[in-house]
Amino acid sequence: MEKTKVILDCDTGSDDAVAIMLAILSDKLELLGVSTVAGNKEINFTTDNTLRVIELLGSKAPVYRGCHTSMVTKIAPGRRGGYNGMTGVSEFNVDAKGNIIQYHNDCLPIAEAKTKEKKEHAVFWLIDTLMRSEGDIVLVPTGPLTNIAMALRLEPAIAGKIKELVFMGGGFKVFNSTSCAEFNIWADPEAAQIVLTSGIEKITMVPLDATHSANFSREDAKELRDYGTELCRVVADLIDERVTAYDAYQPQNPLGTAPLHDALALAYVFDREVLRDVKLMRVDVDCGGGFADGSTLCDTRAYPDRELNCYVALDADRERFVKLTKELLKSFK
Ligand code: RIB
Ligand code: CA
Repeated sequence: MEKTKVILDCDTGSDDAVAIMLAILSDKLELLGVSTVAGNKEINFTTDNTLRVIELLGSKAPVYRGCHTSMVTKIAPGRRGGYNGMTGVSEFNVDAKGNIIQYHNDCLPIAEAKTKEKKEHAVFWLIDTLMRSEGDIVLVPTGPLTNIAMALRLEPAIAGKIKELVFMGGGFKVFNSTSCAEFNIWADPEAAQIVLTSGIEKITMVPLDATHSANFSREDAKELRDYGTELCRVVADLIDERVTAYDAYQPQNPLGTAPLHDALALAYVFDREVLRDVKLMRVDVDCGGGFADGSTLCDTRAYPDRELNCYVALDADRERFVKLTKELLKSFK
């Protein structure tokens, strides 16, 4: 069976890390490389974390450092700009030891990597790789869409070379950074709008509505920890850390569970059944700088007045996703 060629574009934090792991471990995918972007953390951390994950798995996938800030967010007056992965958090909670509870620590609980990133900038690498391809690459962005939008601005022809773009971001009825915006889109609204209107043949949005339907629990973490391998220990730590943060800032139903957003988006590339209720819609991003800034506007009318441009996943198959994730993680000794 021919493997699907995939490129991940990540702001590696805890859930991006698991997406990278699945991309390496799935025998249905060929990971061509990972580009990094600022988002959950500054670019130094997201790049360093990406290298750690790849080396832990013994993969040779190259890593390219991308944009260190959003396209215009920081120069638009009135926007909050500057983000650190504390999605939607205005007041910090601390644990019993006085440490700030957060979704993503600066560094993942993995040994520092010896491998270095490649010299070429991620945006140029993306353009070059896509233009040389046979149009057979699936692009999976799991952070702010800055690199992809920059690449599209520099070389619009890459749109016709992307087989499919599956991104984690946005919300239909579920939001985190503001009352109506999800972090990856809110962090760089213009970039998201550029991507959505670029003419890429097939775009699938994996919003919070889907990712919050496929949460991991502390029991899942325990099962992985008990399995005893280093990789399963790392993911167990990440799940526990995320559950603590979600209980503190975004309590889920049931409590004691947390999403691994980015891993779900990646899993969809090799298992189409993990997402449910996927509907073709018109999606645009509010870039007005007001209350709705970064909101994904999903047109569900029978007769939208703009071309349909994006498949939106409204639900996910939790059992299937959790099972396949655990199986793949356990397959690595
Ligand atoms: O809103 C969830 C998204 O924001 C995930 O991609 C997470 O990693 C952060 O980037
Ligand atoms: Ca991410």
